[in-house]
Amino acid sequence: MKIIFLGAPGAGKGTQAEIVAQKAGIPTISTGVILREAIKNKTPLGVSAQSYIEKGQLVPDELVIDILTERLSQSDCDNGYILDGFPRTIAQAEALDKMNVNIDKVVNIYVPDEKIVERLAGRRSCSGCGATYHVAYNPSKDGVHCNNCGKELTQRSDDKPETILNRLAVYHEQTAPLEEFYRNRGILCDVVGQEEVADTTSLTLKALGLK
Ligand code: AP5
Repeated sequence: MKIIFLGAPGAGKGTQAEIVAQKAGIPTISTGVILREAIKNKTPLGVSAQSYIEKGQLVPDELVIDILTERLSQSDCDNGYILDGFPRTIAQAEALDKMNVNIDKVVNIYVPDEKIVERLAGRRSCSGCGATYHVAYNPSKDGVHCNNCGKELTQRSDDKPETILNRLAVYHEQTAPLEEFYRNRGILCDVVGQEEVADTTSLTLKALGLK
């Protein structure tokens, strides 16, 4: 199965993608995770991407399309995958078409903008394995360390309130048009993000026919 998770920053794409990936036995490919790893390792890609991410802007299409093309060529993608955070522009969606990638379903997670700020401001990520938590909605056992690997939890540099608002504006302008793009193909399913992670998971699995 080839699945795209679409939705505003903080809608819960990464959280749901990880759960569904485990259940379906396919990898999650997150362009955000790949870019943050590149920034951490100070690679040429990371150096190019850093200023865009810190301002809440999109990284140029050609850079992310190259990253994705390379990632999809790896053998763990042979039986399908979940794309989290790609495509984010019509040009990126058209690039997938050019690669002859046939997407089965696009899960569009909707959460109102006012909730997004609260979710992102409270998000904490594991500095080791990248697992995602929320200080109120999905805390780790001790609130400071990761349940999986024990490493310290940190806050993303683009989760500052002013950057969050910019990311939201960019989403509405450049990414939201993809809803129509995939709806017209008959493969978009809308999932209203719930207060509880498990409730959103239940709706997502149902939409994907996995429940
Ligand atoms: P990326 O890493 O993709 O960030 P994003 O799309 O802004 O999405 P987030 O990771 O912030 O949120 P999410 O929807 O995954 O939510 P999460 O599950 O964490 O991209 C970062 C940047 O990289 C971009 O701004 C851009 O610059 C660049 N980039 C990446 N891809 C690109 C591309 N294709 N083209 C160009 N540039 C690109 O959940 C959020 C919080 O809410 C968590 O704390 C979670 O625990 C909590 N939560 C989740 N679900 C629930 C629930 N149901 N109830 C309560 N809390 C919940």
